[in-house]
Amino acid sequence: MYIVGIDFGSVYLKAVLCVLGDDNKEITVLKTFVFDHKSAKKGTLSDMEKAKDVFGRLLEKIKNEFSEPVDMYVISISGENVSSYTGTTTIPLWKQENEERRVKITRSHVKEVINTAKMTAYNKDDKTEIHSVPQEFQIDDQPPTLNPVDMSGIKLKGSVYVIQTDKAHRENLTEILKSVGIDNYRIVFSPLATAESVLDEEDKEGGAIVVSIGDQTTELAVYTSGINRMAKVIPFGSGNITRDLKVVLKTDYRTAEDIKKNEVNVFLKDTDPEKIINIPGSNSVNSDFSEEYVSKIAEARLKEIYEFVMKEVYKGSYQRLIHSPVVITGPGSRIRGAEKLFADMNNSKTVSGTLSAGVKSDFEISDEYYSAIGLVKYAVLNGMLNEDDETENKKGFLKWIKQFISDLV
Ligand SMILES: Nc1ncnc2c1ncn2[C@@H]1O[C@H](COP(=O)(O)OP(=O)(O)O)[C@@H](O)[C@H]1O
Ligand SMILES: [Mg+2]
Repeated sequence: MYIVGIDFGSVYLKAVLCVLGDDNKEITVLKTFVFDHKSAKKGTLSDMEKAKDVFGRLLEKIKNEFSEPVDMYVISISGENVSSYTGTTTIPLWKQENEERRVKITRSHVKEVINTAKMTAYNKDDKTEIHSVPQEFQIDDQPPTLNPVDMSGIKLKGSVYVIQTDKAHRENLTEILKSVGIDNYRIVFSPLATAESVLDEEDKEGGAIVVSIGDQTTELAVYTSGINRMAKVIPFGSGNITRDLKVVLKTDYRTAEDIKKNEVNVFLKDTDPEKIINIPGSNSVNSDFSEEYVSKIAEARLKEIYEFVMKEVYKGSYQRLIHSPVVITGPGSRIRGAEKLFADMNNSKTVSGTLSAGVKSDFEISDEYYSAIGLVKYAVLNGMLNEDDETENKKGFLKWIKQFISDLV
């Protein structure tokens, strides 16, 4: 089966063509594609014509380079139009005619509690669901469980994490895909995809925070006990660092981008106040600045981005996870000192993301493509690819529960 993951970022559209092994597990990346485009702002689609154009260019390139038909496309969704909430509810299980009162919980009870929990905040009129991730369940006063089936009780409490977007946003995406002839596709929220590319099941089990820095957005995903607890897009990214450098150093964007990539170290203790960096084309009187001075500009912005990240982490009371460790990834995280700065600010164990197991390739894959690969991996792991052919009973409970995560499209 051939699957294409399409990471529709703020400045780049990146795609990976993958083949899925017969065991439905191993993903091999065959080709990568990248295009720049101007059809999104801060992760949200902003120009239909330009978006159709860049998707069209991608499909043409795939056709030219690959003769087999693609079976499935997995496309990212991101930006501030995507929101999330946790719904919690308790349903009674017992029926009057049942003398014992206690009832053995079935899958349909679980389904019911999840659907009811969703309804506590679901706004059907202008929102549409992208994912719903079941969280813990609790029967009466028993300890919380991930799988309440076959346990007995009087009432079942359940909560679900729902990721949703504006209907209009979702419809626009559909229209773009339709216009380029993509009809077999799935949609995955970008932070979940990126996290999937750098985490394995063990990491999720032990707890993890993934922070991925793009151009205009920073993605955040939090896991505990193997379950996604939170996924957010923060509307600031590495492009903001470039703009700050451009303004303060009075230079052009390209030079600022070059300085960011090659001269800056956001971990100020590692910078040298004596080392001089000349900024070519700077309009200021003196075009020489110290490494420390230049780095401070970038540090201030990245610090702010990390503060936004931590605010979300604290909001969800997941701060204990900063020792789990925190995985920093995305092209924006290549700036020197990115991990050290986070570690220093939060006294946390911080590592740079590497491609998780289960993804193979004959060539070295740059971290630029992690999100695109993660889209494919997420869809595969969560049983999104052949949702229609499998009956509920054939699936194991975990697989079944994962179906909730992906009941879209
Ligand atoms: N070596 C590097 N050092 C610092 N920043 C980098 C480096 N390489 C790429 N970046 C930054 O990463 C950002 C692009 O991130 P990416 O995720 O590819 O974009 P998008 O948001 O479109 O998905 C740009 O702002 C770019 O400057
Ligand atoms: Mg990106």
